[in-house]
Amino acid sequence: PMNSFLATLAAYLLGSLSFAVIVSRVMGLSDPRSYGSKNPGATNVLRSGSKVAALVTLLLDALKGWLPVALVVWYGERFGLQEGTVALVGLAAFLGHLYPVFFRFQGGKGVATALGVLFGVDWLLGLAAALTWLIIAFFFRYSSLASLVAAVFAPVYYLFGNGLAWYADKRIALALGAMALLLFWRHRENIGRLAQGKESRLGSKKK
Ligand code: G3P
Repeated sequence: PMNSFLATLAAYLLGSLSFAVIVSRVMGLSDPRSYGSKNPGATNVLRSGSKVAALVTLLLDALKGWLPVALVVWYGERFGLQEGTVALVGLAAFLGHLYPVFFRFQGGKGVATALGVLFGVDWLLGLAAALTWLIIAFFFRYSSLASLVAAVFAPVYYLFGNGLAWYADKRIALALGAMALLLFWRHRENIGRLAQGKESRLGSKKK
């Protein structure tokens, strides 16, 4: 229980690193919380015009979801961690991104971090969600819509694709469901803009 608590806390702290803000600062770009959707995420960093900064943000925000989950999946048994800890650390990293302790609890929408968590749980699950995102983004050109559709499908893929691994667990399914709900909640303004046809398309720059 102590190890589980420490792992969850570490995952939350790691998730709290808002890489959109950090990468932009390091690369000398404007703060993503000041333009576009004001969201500290890879999609909004892309609106700065720097594809490199957006890609680095995407990779690091995904990495912070992937790493704690992968570590527990690989080494959890050795430290006496229960299956539920995989779910807990994934959720904690995701919540860190949404409500980062280092950034006044004003975080992002969780798409990249959730994707990292999925890759950590099962790389095929991550791949399936990433492909879902890419297909929707390719056809509709809305990052938010692609994220929402992928979020709906991720728990479904998990439920249909798992059952054998030691960490395949109802708590993971619940955590993925909770992440999808929170992801929708964080996209409520995007959903409003999509409904009104006012959402900015991928490839259009900041205003
Ligand atoms: O990563 C979040 C994405 O789904 C939407 O971002 O900046 O268009 O609100 P944004």
